[in-house]
Amino acid sequence: MSEEDQLTPIPERAVANAHIRGMHNYLSTWEKSVDETDAFWGAEARAALDWIVPFRTVLRGSLSGGDVAWFPDGYLNVSVNCLDRHPASRTAIIWEGDEPNDVKHITYGEALAATCRLANALRTLGVRKGDRVCLYMPMVPEAAYCMLACARIGAIHSVVFAGFSAEALRARVEDSRCKVVLTADEGLRAKKVIKLKAVVDKALEAEECKCVTAVLVYKRTGGAIDWKEGRDQWMSEAMEKERPFCAPEVMNAEDPLFLLYTSGSTGKPKGMMHSSAGYLLWTAFTHRYTFDYHVGEVYACVADIGWITGHSYIVYGPLCNGATTVMFESLPTYPDAGRYWDLVSRHQIASFYTAPTAIRALMKYGDAPVKKHDRSSLRVLGSVGEPINPEAWKWYYEVVGEGRCCVVDTFWQTETGGHMITNIPGCQPMKPGSASLPMFGVRPMLVDPQAGVLLEGNHKEGVLCIGQPWPGIARTIWGDHARYLDTYLKPYPGYYFTGDGCRRDGDGYLWITGRVDDVLNVSGHRLGTAEIESALVTHEACVEAAVVGIPHDVKGQGIFAYCILKDATEETADLIPSLKAAVRAAIGGLATPDHIICTPGLPKTRSGKIMRRVLRKIACLEADQLGDTSTLADPSIIPLLIEKVEKAL
Ligand code: PRX
Repeated sequence: MSEEDQLTPIPERAVANAHIRGMHNYLSTWEKSVDETDAFWGAEARAALDWIVPFRTVLRGSLSGGDVAWFPDGYLNVSVNCLDRHPASRTAIIWEGDEPNDVKHITYGEALAATCRLANALRTLGVRKGDRVCLYMPMVPEAAYCMLACARIGAIHSVVFAGFSAEALRARVEDSRCKVVLTADEGLRAKKVIKLKAVVDKALEAEECKCVTAVLVYKRTGGAIDWKEGRDQWMSEAMEKERPFCAPEVMNAEDPLFLLYTSGSTGKPKGMMHSSAGYLLWTAFTHRYTFDYHVGEVYACVADIGWITGHSYIVYGPLCNGATTVMFESLPTYPDAGRYWDLVSRHQIASFYTAPTAIRALMKYGDAPVKKHDRSSLRVLGSVGEPINPEAWKWYYEVVGEGRCCVVDTFWQTETGGHMITNIPGCQPMKPGSASLPMFGVRPMLVDPQAGVLLEGNHKEGVLCIGQPWPGIARTIWGDHARYLDTYLKPYPGYYFTGDGCRRDGDGYLWITGRVDDVLNVSGHRLGTAEIESALVTHEACVEAAVVGIPHDVKGQGIFAYCILKDATEETADLIPSLKAAVRAAIGGLATPDHIICTPGLPKTRSGKIMRRVLRKIACLEADQLGDTSTLADPSIIPLLIEKVEKAL
């Protein structure tokens, strides 16, 4: 099919009332947004946010300096922008619990009161502006209140996804020296109980976590938990003691709002630090345009608040826009594979945002579970987290959306705060599998990774960089600005380096081709190969490990691990399960390798560098395409690995 043939026209009914219409208007707005930065973003920030002290400067600093600051002389409070200024009687959050009939409608007034009580409770515990507070929470409205309560008093939250292990939680609490941990007794997903408090208890046993002086526990299930007197308190009791009014802290635009840890190419996760005003503007702005959001509509993002998608597109963006945002606690297949569409029909959802991995998993159940539910309220269907393969795109568009909805394929990252490349409903025709064109304010650049030169014009492929600052860019890595510069700003001076490969087609549409570094994307979860390797070598039998990604038809990528065992170790039946358990203990279930093979050696260059390209090819059963192996120190390992992999798969 030619590139032009792939263009899928904008379904007119979906965008009759669109904020911006037509390619021409898109292009002129985009040009203004990147050329007249001060005028464009100054006007947006004045219109979209309530300021305590208005800013005079729009942008200071540069990508080359690593000192980008937006609205640096302005002051505001993020929680005020997300709660106080909206009509108290409007529904802010529709929460749907694990069971479909467990639903709560929470107004802006109620969310504000709960947030204020929590904010006061945190102040009573001694939390002050700039202190770090860790959240290890299930998908309950209290998780959003906890985030906003931190924002209200200027504390910096660090949400840790509730699927991470005690060890992973410990490392994150330690890195940011959190003062308080907010958690729940247990989480619930598809009736399965997740023992959150027990994980927190285990993490906090470590000497390095003595910085934590208090734990507030939300009672979700009432299950039995251990209790540490003097440290633990029920969240509800702490809140009841406090007034539902809390004076917001006056925050500089550049004061940190939160840290969110994400994986990179070393074993140590990076605490990406986001700002207050720039981040909030970016999430609200992109939420409004990408989903063509209009006040009064119900909007649902079914991600978890433990990831950036949940931060930006369940909590901050929608609430800043006064939207009604859905929080979903359960799984897409519980009680059956029609759960999402049941959710859509019962809450009359207008835009729905999920990940390709969920779409691919649901496709396997066929069309019937979708068609059983009325989806006529839908206008926009969003995709995030990984490239969406055209088959999944078409199913989403044709079966779920009945050809009436816009599919928006949103490319972005933890580091970018919000959408960077996406089509916008009403603006551009769609192409299945292409994230399309840049968001306003984003100047994408393709760079030749070897020569470091810009690749201009169409029909080009290179690494994806961003040519100028946008308001949502993470400002630093907590405690390690040098690593921030080295990872993002130094590889291609003057630009922000995404770590992704990208192709520009004949129509100028952008196609993300995947990570060019040692980062995996497993079911939309970002994992570093080095992290998994370090986890494997915590096992007493494993002396060295190499991890590569392999294609997986539902998860996008699967994890394949090669392990070298200690000389005397025997490959007993329980060795592989215990190696997997070591990864679960160090990181969490999401990082469990799909395949592990034990080997006496790894293909290395004479200087001792593991040849991952070779390992990847062997794991993908493409050993006939190994390429140049002449630099291998010991080529005899190759046939042995091929034989082992063929047996294992
Ligand atoms: O490789 C890209 C992929 O996910 C990475 C960012 O992961 P994370 O920081 O966890 O954020 C996920 C939610 C935004 C990117 O470097 N990625 C994300 N969205 C897309 C994507 N790849 C292709 N298409 C997308 N729409």
